[in-house]
Amino acid sequence: MKRFLDLADLSRDEVLDLLALARRLEAHPEPRALAGKILGLVFFNPSLRTLASFQVGMQRLGGSSFVITPGQGTWQLETRTGAVMDGACAEHIREGLPVLASYADALGIRAFAEGKDLAHDVAETSFKAMAGVVHKPLINLESAVNHPCQSLADWKTLDEVGVPQRAKFVLSWANHPRVTPIAVPAATVHMAAHRGMEVVVLRPEGYALPPAIMDKARAAAAASGGSVRETDDRADALAGAHVVYAKEWGSTTHYGDAAGDAALRAGLKDWCVREDWFATAAAGCKFMHCLPVRRNVAVADEVLDGPRSIVLREAHNRLTAQMAVLYRLLA
Ligand code: CP
Repeated sequence: MKRFLDLADLSRDEVLDLLALARRLEAHPEPRALAGKILGLVFFNPSLRTLASFQVGMQRLGGSSFVITPGQGTWQLETRTGAVMDGACAEHIREGLPVLASYADALGIRAFAEGKDLAHDVAETSFKAMAGVVHKPLINLESAVNHPCQSLADWKTLDEVGVPQRAKFVLSWANHPRVTPIAVPAATVHMAAHRGMEVVVLRPEGYALPPAIMDKARAAAAASGGSVRETDDRADALAGAHVVYAKEWGSTTHYGDAAGDAALRAGLKDWCVREDWFATAAAGCKFMHCLPVRRNVAVADEVLDGPRSIVLREAHNRLTAQMAVLYRLLA
């Protein structure tokens, strides 16, 4: 494996093989496997889990890492192709990223969506420009419409808690005070479809995922024997659910229009996941969220602190799943 950019680049068997490696490394640690190897981590956006788990993962495998947060103690990096650089950015990614890659054995990059032009973001225009100038193993730490590390950890978590392959998986929109990216919902709907699940995307009007994202998930479902549909009918979606995965994301009909999105979501305050959402769910229905989460805005305390929540296990599995990725890329 040369790059880990999208779970869709891996067949179902290749994902299962990676998860088996993650379990093996948990059971039989290899603290010298990556001795002398260096991972560069470039964060254009904030993080808690991704930042910490990649540094710890490298250390647990005997390697090391460095972190660059462009513009915070380093030069601010320009990402736009053809930009006239007379503003705040002193350096372009076309120089900055290859230089950083030349110091490391692998690079990870987090670069969220610009959030202005949906087609530009869905096409991963910015991340592809970055990937194009990095000639070392590369890891997507979350791009405009993808978060493969989160998805790999979530797949592992579903396996660990015994959720069957064909179980009903509901990806539900949740409230948030402001616009957030569609990377996790896009990656999650694909992951669950790739795993072979009965996937239902539950979202209010104005928050449908882009057709290209849904088509990609449907193609994965067709290959794995799963299914994908979307609805705004909460009762229909939640009936018989085995997993409810909540995530906040911005309106796709008001993309790049924060005021329009705010007006739309002003009437959606009841999209805070509460325990009564699970009244008709399957017995033992699990609750998932990638974190960070706004308590009592997106998800109520009673759910996050209750027995169905597996959010901390998901976060822990960021470490165990990513160690397998690092091992495949560098060992
Ligand atoms: N889920 C996730 O990627 O968390 P961070 O943004 O804290 O890295």
